[in-house]
Amino acid sequence: MEEQLHAIREEALKALEEASTPSDLDQIKVKYLGRKGAVTRILKGLGRLPAEERPRVGKLANEVKRALEKALAARKEDLEKTAPEDRLISGFDPTLPGRRRPYGTLHPITQVMDEIASVFTRMGFSVEEGPEIELDYYNFEALNIPPDHPARDMQDTFYVDDKVLLRTHTSPIQVRTMEKRQPPLRIIAPGKVYRCDSDVTHTPMFHQVEGLMVDTDVSFADLKGVLTLFVHEIFDPETSVRFRPSFFPFTEPSAEVDIQCVMCRGRGCRVCSQTGWLEVLGAGMVHPAVFRHVGYDTEKYSGFAFGLGVERIAMLKYGIDDIRLFYENDVAFLSQF
Ligand code: DAH
Repeated sequence: MEEQLHAIREEALKALEEASTPSDLDQIKVKYLGRKGAVTRILKGLGRLPAEERPRVGKLANEVKRALEKALAARKEDLEKTAPEDRLISGFDPTLPGRRRPYGTLHPITQVMDEIASVFTRMGFSVEEGPEIELDYYNFEALNIPPDHPARDMQDTFYVDDKVLLRTHTSPIQVRTMEKRQPPLRIIAPGKVYRCDSDVTHTPMFHQVEGLMVDTDVSFADLKGVLTLFVHEIFDPETSVRFRPSFFPFTEPSAEVDIQCVMCRGRGCRVCSQTGWLEVLGAGMVHPAVFRHVGYDTEKYSGFAFGLGVERIAMLKYGIDDIRLFYENDVAFLSQF
């Protein structure tokens, strides 16, 4: 029996050394120290030994038991220190690739808006924000839009009450910024705007980016330079740009900016109604009446402003012909961007 015990000890210690997972250790524990384990069996069989051998064998059996317990505990500690992937239960292949989760992406409108903002911040413009629920004063009055102007028509504007409305453009942020700050000023104001309108090119909520630059010597040439560079950055440097006379109450003179049709390169197609041109933004020199509302000296300062629709730019950039696609939350559509 003593020989047997020595053999058991040797065998068990060797097995422990080779063990590489916690479950290997459990198996060894059961095999030698479990209820039916090799050492346990010997301890239980001590009674059958001659009385004079019993103490000696018993002592050895207890020694072996303690030695194995100690070795088990030490090996367990070792294994816990090794890398987690080495401890995984057998049968599990840690080298298999994990389950892929679909990536989320920024909404195309957010992407285009970020891109627009980046073009202007690189030209030294900073970003301003304003409330979507706006006072009539900022949305209309201070922008030189008189009370009987057609833009105030109930058809277009969502009114909250007599004096409060959902802003119909981002232009009120011009006024709010000029009230707070003195020139020189170079800002853009991106945000949501609301109009009671809905078809393939209009949604009741859409996005605009407003721009404003005011200083002592700002001219129409600056407006043309900044907006031409903008078009070249957003579309491509080969895209022609034209400035067409127009009217806005808050600018004088005013212009609408067209780009060469991105679909037909100016040859004429359905998208540009055979004209070869697409309107992309409104702009002009800030009207003195607007400066007077914010207390700027109209003799000293001049400035230009512009406003553009983000959805429109995104539709032209990506060749999308129905604005509503942006707001249907169809993942198959959105994940293309
Ligand atoms: N606010 C105008 C609109 O919503 C766009 C616009 C045109 C803004 C000319 C301007 C501007 O600042 O100068 O249609």
